[in-house]
Amino acid sequence: MRRSCLSVLVLSFFVTLRTGAPSNISLWEHCSRFRVYLPGIHEDLLPWQDAEGISEDLIDRTTRLWGIGGKKRGNGLPLLIKGGKLYVLQGAERSIKDIWPWQAYNVIAYAYALQRLVERWGPQLPDVEFVLETADVPSTDLRGGAGAGGAKAAADEPASPWGTPHGRLPVMRHCKTAESADIAVPIFHFYQHDFDHSFLERIDHINKAHPWEQRNTRAFAAGSNYVREQDAVSTQRHWDGVQHGTKVEEVRKGFMHYVMDELRHPNITYANSTVPMWSWAANKMAIHVDGISCSSRVHQLLALGTVVLREQSGYFSFYDKLLTKFIHYVPFWRHRPREVEWAYNWVVAHDAAARTMAQRGQDFVRTYLNAAAIECFWALLWEEYARLQRFRPGYRRGPGGGGEREVPAMPVAEWIAKQEGIHMDFWATKSIAAIGSHLCLLPRPGEAGSPWDTGREGKPPLTCPPDRRVGCGCMP
Ligand SMILES: *[C@@H]1O[C@H](CO)[C@@H](O)[C@H](O)[C@H]1NC(C)=O
Ligand SMILES: *[C@@H]1O[C@H](CO)[C@@H](O)[C@H](O)[C@H]1NC(C)=O
Ligand SMILES: *[C@@H]1O[C@H](CO)[C@@H](O)[C@H](O)[C@H]1NC(C)=O
Repeated sequence: MRRSCLSVLVLSFFVTLRTGAPSNISLWEHCSRFRVYLPGIHEDLLPWQDAEGISEDLIDRTTRLWGIGGKKRGNGLPLLIKGGKLYVLQGAERSIKDIWPWQAYNVIAYAYALQRLVERWGPQLPDVEFVLETADVPSTDLRGGAGAGGAKAAADEPASPWGTPHGRLPVMRHCKTAESADIAVPIFHFYQHDFDHSFLERIDHINKAHPWEQRNTRAFAAGSNYVREQDAVSTQRHWDGVQHGTKVEEVRKGFMHYVMDELRHPNITYANSTVPMWSWAANKMAIHVDGISCSSRVHQLLALGTVVLREQSGYFSFYDKLLTKFIHYVPFWRHRPREVEWAYNWVVAHDAAARTMAQRGQDFVRTYLNAAAIECFWALLWEEYARLQRFRPGYRRGPGGGGEREVPAMPVAEWIAKQEGIHMDFWATKSIAAIGSHLCLLPRPGEAGSPWDTGREGKPPLTCPPDRRVGCGCMP
C-alpha cells in the first residue's frame, strides 16, 4: 500500500480514514501531506532556538519539576525514544501512586498510544527525550508571571524564564497560551474517544441529515460546567452585564445564565442540560466555550458542519495555528461575552460565507485531525525537537562533561505493567491492562486494523451494546 506524493489535499481526502499498518513506505514520505504542521511546530519550539537549545541540564530540571514524583507534583511522564524503542526514564521512580486516578488514566493512555506509535515506525523515529504532561494548565509563563516560579522559586528552580539558568522548561502538553513555554501536542482524548469513527466517518451522514438551508438559524450550546483556569494574563476574563467586573469562574454555567437570563435573544440558546451533540447539527451555529482550558469539544463541533462561534479563551491546541478566524470559525468573547450576539448577526448577514466556513471546518478536521494526521504530528514534532537537543538522548555527561553514563530507562510495556493495581477507580475500566485494549490506536505493523476497521473491510462490525462501548473497544 505504497502512497505516492500526489497533490497533498486530493490525496489526503481519499486516505483520510485509511489508517492501515505501515508497509515499507518511509515515515517521512507517509507524513509529507501533513507538513503544514511544521511552521506551528517551529513557533512552539522558538524558546529553545539558541546555542543552549535543549541541554541535558534543562531536560533534567524539567523532569525534576514536572515529572511524576517531582517537585511540582506534576503528571509529567519523562520518555525516551532510543533506537526505535520507547522507554520511561527512571521508570522505577515514576509511579502513578503519586498522581490522581483520572490523571493516571490519561498518562497511561499516552503511554499506550506512544508505545503503539513507536512500534509502528521504530528506528525511523529520531532519538528524543521529552516530558509529556497531562494537566490542563500551562506550566511556565514566559513573561515571568504566575506559573513561572517567580517569588516562589526554590533553590534549584530558576526564577525567570529568561534568567540564568533559564526557566524555559520544555513540557509537552495538550494546551498552551500564547506566552506559555509549553509545546502543544494532541490531547489524550484522541485515543480515549473514537473521533475518527464517531465524528469523521459520520460527516457525510450528518450533512445529508442536515443540509445547510434546512438548519435553524440559531446559535446553540449546552453542556457541562467548568471552572476556568486564568493564571496567565491573556486568559483572564471578567463578566459584563449584571455581574460587571467580577472574575469569570464557572465559565459555562455563568455564560448560560448570561445568555438565558440577560441577553434573552430568541435565537441564541444555552441549554442547561446535556444535549447529544448530534442534535446540535440541526442549527447553523454552535457556540463553543472552552473548559478548564482547551476543550476537545471544538474539533467535535467543527465536524458537525455548523459554524462554530468560538470563545477566545486565550488557550490554544496543537492544531490551532492552522485554524483562522473567519475562515474556520467566527470568534467571540475576545473582551466581553455579549460579543456572541455580534457573531450571530455576522452569520445571519453572511449566509453564503458562513456555509463555506462550516464546510471548511469539516474539511479541516477530516484532513488534519484523523488518526494518521495525529500520528504524523508527533513524528514531525519529534523530528524538529530532536534538532534542538544538545546531548545524546538516554545518556548524561554531567556537569563538566565527564564520562558519559546511561540514564536508567524502563521499556514502556514494563512500566505500564508495573502500574497495575495502584488505582482501582478509573472512569472507563478497573485495570491498567484493560485501558490499552479500549484505546483507539492505529494497528500494529502487519495487523489488519482495529475492530471497527475490520467492520469496514466487509466483515461484520464488532457488535457492542452502546452502554459497553469504551473508546474503540467493548467492555467485557
Ligand atoms: C519490505 O522490505 C523488505 C526488505 O527490504 C522485503 O523483504 C519486504 O517484502 C517488503 N515488504 C513490502 C510489503 O513491500
Ligand atoms: C430569530 O430567527 C427567526 C427565524 O429565522 C427570525 O425571523 C427572527 O428575526 C430572529 N430574531 C432575531 C432577534 O434575530
Ligand atoms: C434548567 O431549565 C429548566 C427549564 O427550562 C428549569 O426548570 C431549571 O430550573 C433550570 N436549571 C438551572 C440549573 O438553571
